[in-house]
Amino acid sequence: MRFAALVSLVAASVAIASPAAHLKKRASCPGGQTVDDAQCCIWFDVLDDLQTNLERRSPKPFVFNSMTQLAFSPALTASGQFGGGGSDGSIIEHADVELTFPPNGNLGGIVASERSIALAHNVSFADMIQFAAAAGVANCAGAPRLEFLAGRPFTSQASPPNLVPGPGNTVTRILDRMADAGFSADETVDLLASHSIAAQQGLNAGIAGSPFDSTPDRFDTQFFIETLLKGVLNPGPTTGFAEVLSPLPGEFRMQSDFAIARDPRTSCRWQELADNPQLMRTAFRTAMAKLAALGNDRSSLVDCSSVIPNPADDDTEPTLPGGKVADDIEGSCAATPFPVLPIAPGPTPTIPAVVI
Ligand code: HEM
Repeated sequence: MRFAALVSLVAASVAIASPAAHLKKRASCPGGQTVDDAQCCIWFDVLDDLQTNLERRSPKPFVFNSMTQLAFSPALTASGQFGGGGSDGSIIEHADVELTFPPNGNLGGIVASERSIALAHNVSFADMIQFAAAAGVANCAGAPRLEFLAGRPFTSQASPPNLVPGPGNTVTRILDRMADAGFSADETVDLLASHSIAAQQGLNAGIAGSPFDSTPDRFDTQFFIETLLKGVLNPGPTTGFAEVLSPLPGEFRMQSDFAIARDPRTSCRWQELADNPQLMRTAFRTAMAKLAALGNDRSSLVDCSSVIPNPADDDTEPTLPGGKVADDIEGSCAATPFPVLPIAPGPTPTIPAVVI
């Protein structure tokens, strides 16, 4: 009797510790893949659909859409208003409202694609956004293989305005907003590793596709290096919104990246990532996992990470672009000098625009 009681007690505590565990069922999918949980099989079909989209357009806007999940404010909720649902897919379900918010202005096309793929496979909009970001990142050499958890709710409430950080915001405003959403200054920098595989479309439409570093297809540390170079030129004939001087022809520099790179609260982490591709990968993976779970209970989600393709390796070394020297770096971390980097051979490169 006492043994039976102990067994049921242990069984009950296992169930409490891991609510999703009882659902876990290793399975073979119709395509022949093996997954930890049969619920993951559907994501191979979603991946096929998505890859068709990714062949037509750059993966970058799929990754950019993650940023809208920062609409999550416990402070606003505490004041008695709805503070946003975080990673809840509301940018898709309530596109009519949220696409009117200035930082989301350019996401219409990607939101429409994600909506139609999610509806076709009956997966939630919230899961779709996290999956598309992980699959998009996986298209870039050197990227980490991001975690993907499935099972977020199908419904959401439109987020309030002014929660997603903008490129014209001060560092204090951005860090305050990020802290409210649960991210430290270091984690904010870690998330900005995404700008290593990014370009602008709407800040200066005349030079749409101008990337934020010289290697927008590679998840490498060049973004963290190049944002610290002295700004010397305008890449376009006019200056765009929140645009500041860039170090390289064709490269775009936004005000917030410029300022976060040099601010005492963030500059040492920035510099640390500039010379450490491995740390950049692991830190981004951890911060993205946190972002993707915002407003959700992780223990209620199913781990389907094995569906995400393995990104190609990138073994290129962090370098100063050709034509630049160590003195061009505006080293801003008071505690540590900027590392000595090799200089790429050849003249100063002109960075081509990314075609979306
Ligand atoms: C301080 C916070 C951030 C600010 C102010 C910011 C701002 C911006 C802006 C203004 C653009 C250019 C949009 C356009 O003109 O099309 C951009 C692009 C991008 N951002 Fe951020 N961002 C932030 C954080 C993030 C985060 C957290 C992610 C993802 C995890 C992200 C991923 C991207 C990507 C992938 C692009 C390139 C989009 C494309 O090439 O179409 N950003 N960001």
